[in-house]
Amino acid sequence: GMSHQIAVIPGDGIGQEVTPAAIDVLDALEVDFEFREGEAGDRVAEETGDPLPEATIELARESDATLFGAAGERAADIILPLREVVGSYANVRPAKAYPGLEAVKPETDLVFIRENTQGVYAQIESQLTDDLATLTRVVTREASRKIAEYGFEYAEEHGYDNVTIAHKANVMQETDGLFLEAAEAVAEERGADYDTELMDALAMKLVMYPEDYDVIITPNLAGDVLSDLAAGLVGGLGLLPSANVGDDNALFEPVHGSAPDIAGQGVANPSAMILSAAMMLDHLDYDDEATRVTDAVETVLAEGPHTPDLGGDASTEAFTAAVIEQL
Ligand code: NAD
Ligand code: IPM
Ligand code: MN
Repeated sequence: GMSHQIAVIPGDGIGQEVTPAAIDVLDALEVDFEFREGEAGDRVAEETGDPLPEATIELARESDATLFGAAGERAADIILPLREVVGSYANVRPAKAYPGLEAVKPETDLVFIRENTQGVYAQIESQLTDDLATLTRVVTREASRKIAEYGFEYAEEHGYDNVTIAHKANVMQETDGLFLEAAEAVAEERGADYDTELMDALAMKLVMYPEDYDVIITPNLAGDVLSDLAAGLVGGLGLLPSANVGDDNALFEPVHGSAPDIAGQGVANPSAMILSAAMMLDHLDYDDEATRVTDAVETVLAEGPHTPDLGGDASTEAFTAAVIEQL
């Protein structure tokens, strides 16, 4: 195949541990990737005052795809600009229970299609007085249509029947009202079936009946919260990958953060990061390699060894070695 340049940004905490694991897995495949590492996070911020240097932004912009590990306290100053740099409007977050793993809900197999550019993430906040702060929530018809189109297209391509539009238009009548109206218009133009759910009731139904859901199209913050909730159904954040997709570029990262409670111990579960690398392979049309990686992770999750988050005592490196052996 063609040679691809991949930006690699490990970041903070367990990002430094799970990113090399994913690179080791990619190195074990016959793919023509040129990896270029970029700095971001606490260490570079301490040295330069800037958690996301211009050189790293350029690297992500000019690469064919970016792999991002995790960031810590400055995460919003790092990952939000990077999502914008790659022009990502869709945040694709699959949550599925793996055979042989203990899960709260073993029937879970769904994917969030999270709006990735606006809502409260426009970060328009004001501290008006010592005792009063406000937030402006941004919703456009264009971005709402775009995420709905992506979601319905994704459902069609992957053979999923159920599409749910999550919203809270009963309270956020103008903003989520517009989001819902735009998404429903897209569904009707496509002649696609869909359900709508208020996001609070959806949270309950996801815990009780996750098998009822395939594709869930969400506003930005709802997708953030509900994807961590879904992680809880299937064994934790160590398992959930994501793709930040744009028209001509994309960034792949685990859903989890820097996990300061376990960072530096070498025991982070690299599955989320390795599965994110598999989503990148799929995106770059390395379909067979993507399947090989996903299957290898699934086999090791079924047979062990497991990292401590899944009740085992394997290290990140031992888990990764087992995955590479399964390739
Ligand atoms: P977190 O996702 O870092 O961790 C939540 C819990 O899940 C912790 O108990 C952690 O040990 C566990 N966990 C997460 N990933 C794991 C893995 N791969 N293997 C095993 N266990 C894992 O969320 P948090 O603790 O709320 O946030 C920590 C920091 O991360 C914060 O500073 C936050 O801003 C940042 N954050 C960054 C991103 C990102 O970089 N995209 C995402 C979420 C949070
Ligand atoms: C995530 C994170 C980010 C988000 C934060 C760190 C900005 O929680 O990737 O889920 O809210 O999108
Ligand atoms: Mn999150």
